[in-house]
Amino acid sequence: MKKALFSLIVPCLLLTACSSSADREVSVVPQPQSLDVQDGTYSFATGCAFHTNLSESERADLSAVFASSPFCLTASDDDGALLRFERVDALPDVSSEEGYRLTVDADGIRAEAVAPVGLFYAFQTLLQLAEEKDGRFTMPFVRITDYPRFAYRGMHMDVSRHFRSVEFVMKQLDAMARYKLNRFHWHLTDGAGWRLELKCYPQLTEQAAYRPYPDWKSWWNGGRKYCSKDSPGASGGYYSQDDVRRVLEHARRLHIDVIPEIEMPGHSEEILAVFPQLACPNHSQRSGELCIGNEATFDFLEHVLEEVMELFPSEYIHIGGDEASTVSWEQCPKCRARMRSEGLKDGKELQGYLIGRIAKFLGEHGRKLIGWDEILEGGLPQDAVVMSWRGEEGGIAAAKAGHEVIMTPGAFCYLDAYQDAPVTQPEAIGGYLTLEKVYSYNPVPDGASAEQQLYIRGVQANVWAEYMPTEEHAEYMTYPRLLALSEVAWTSPARKDFPRFRKAALKEVAWLQMYGYHPFDLSEEVGERRESLRPVAHRGLHCAVAYAQPWSAAYPAAGDSTLTDGLRGGWSYGDRRWQGFLCKDVDVTVDLGKVSDIRQVEADFMQLRGPEIWLPKEVAISFSDDGKTFTEVKRIVTDVPVTETKLVFQNYRWEGSAKTRYVHFVGLLNREVMGWLFTDEIVIN
Ligand code: ACM
Ligand code: ZN
Repeated sequence: MKKALFSLIVPCLLLTACSSSADREVSVVPQPQSLDVQDGTYSFATGCAFHTNLSESERADLSAVFASSPFCLTASDDDGALLRFERVDALPDVSSEEGYRLTVDADGIRAEAVAPVGLFYAFQTLLQLAEEKDGRFTMPFVRITDYPRFAYRGMHMDVSRHFRSVEFVMKQLDAMARYKLNRFHWHLTDGAGWRLELKCYPQLTEQAAYRPYPDWKSWWNGGRKYCSKDSPGASGGYYSQDDVRRVLEHARRLHIDVIPEIEMPGHSEEILAVFPQLACPNHSQRSGELCIGNEATFDFLEHVLEEVMELFPSEYIHIGGDEASTVSWEQCPKCRARMRSEGLKDGKELQGYLIGRIAKFLGEHGRKLIGWDEILEGGLPQDAVVMSWRGEEGGIAAAKAGHEVIMTPGAFCYLDAYQDAPVTQPEAIGGYLTLEKVYSYNPVPDGASAEQQLYIRGVQANVWAEYMPTEEHAEYMTYPRLLALSEVAWTSPARKDFPRFRKAALKEVAWLQMYGYHPFDLSEEVGERRESLRPVAHRGLHCAVAYAQPWSAAYPAAGDSTLTDGLRGGWSYGDRRWQGFLCKDVDVTVDLGKVSDIRQVEADFMQLRGPEIWLPKEVAISFSDDGKTFTEVKRIVTDVPVTETKLVFQNYRWEGSAKTRYVHFVGLLNREVMGWLFTDEIVIN
């Protein structure tokens, strides 16, 4: 029956061919759980027919996706079609409904799954297997059995710091689907702009969706004002409810859930600009916390969430919950009265009260609250979901307490960090997160019990946009690192292999470029800071260091041994090799153990404006034989201005000929800007 072919399917048959595929590199991102390549290739022409046994509406959805793909497939009722997408009752070895089996052989292409989403993912795999030439697609004979490691595979997009068009959002959803990601976390509100049209509060988009500044940085460093759409120089935007419905329909076809985030109770400066009565009376223009003692805050939030739930069908509603300051609450009469009446001991518990009320409200509407890991701190209802971003500790604590967890720790999942040598990159928020480091992440922490593991529902990449003023720039930061995240989320650890993945990612970068995306060009990757690649041997190695002022517990590196452990820092101050000093001088004395001949003393400092890391104003180097009386041998004044926006590394050194036992090294904090000093090693030769 299958081979009795006529009409539409004939071109497919004519193009079927056999040849050796042994020399063909087969790559799919994310790597399937089982991929068996055999000799031979199968070809079909653009516009070829496919057959499916799905119901009519499911078939319509699949057809829409297939027809708009490069294959331009058309649905056929002919049961003999050689491209077959079939729902089956069960698949051996596949328990997830997102799983599928895909066979390409001389008889054609057969995808099987228990649900349409599995067939959709089989199709995404086919798109990556195919090579196109002159309107024909050729792919190797394969047998693939595939299913995801995690149910939640997410990408977040911050559209508050910089607004993104609907077309851009939908384009990113297309890429998410290609890489089998299924949750789009849409960060719609934040201090930098409210982005969602609400019929109940049109003032939010009339007054707080535009800013009289071209980008976030000038808004942040300027007056942090908002303006109306038609003000001169207005920049920003918002999504109308029709826009949202378009995005939701596109996402639905791509099997992506859209999770809206409405930030509370912090990061709400834009709400307070429109409704100042929702702030505590003592609040400053620059703080963004809603007053939790005021019932009007709850009326407002419930009205907003009701309308959000009418628009978004998602099971999860994200309510933010991160980085709220408790200062204004602790001084506010209404907040203090609320704390007394509810028996809450501090501001954290007051935030917990708000989260608990909102979770109950969402629960009454059949939804689940999801929030950043701070929501754990004030007590949390059992069915709330925790997104662990400040590391994995919040996620582990949440799993222990029986909450579902999404892992998204900054060190592995924040795509706003530099992806390559910062000196070669456009300005980013800081950090250093390479493709390889994203790829290395395992969302199940070592030592998690079997029960805790069950609560870890997945992983998400976050695209915070402070330093991504344009859509092109956002894509540059997102790709190809999102591909690494997709493999973290989908592929079993035993199947992961970075060299294989990197080759596949290079190929995908070319694909992304061809289809109008703007990925970082992985082939140009420079890599880690040269100095950090191997330990440095020097006269001061492992010598004792006395600190006149302590290092910061937030950036201890290796503690008191850091500055003589031979390990130089990389591009990131957070790499545990750089030692941080907050609002203090670096004032240390290295004891060489005995009076020694020396020719050189040097240390590096870094400057990065975003996180307020500065070069020292001056460095002074002094010597002493007895540790009591010191003679200054060098004083160096920094000439790099604090307005410099690029990451700067500066070497401070003395060279000469001297005898000394003690080397006193002082990096003086620039007291006009305060902030941080960071250094990694005092090298003495
Ligand atoms: C966050 O990055 N503040 C969740
Ligand atoms: Zn208050």
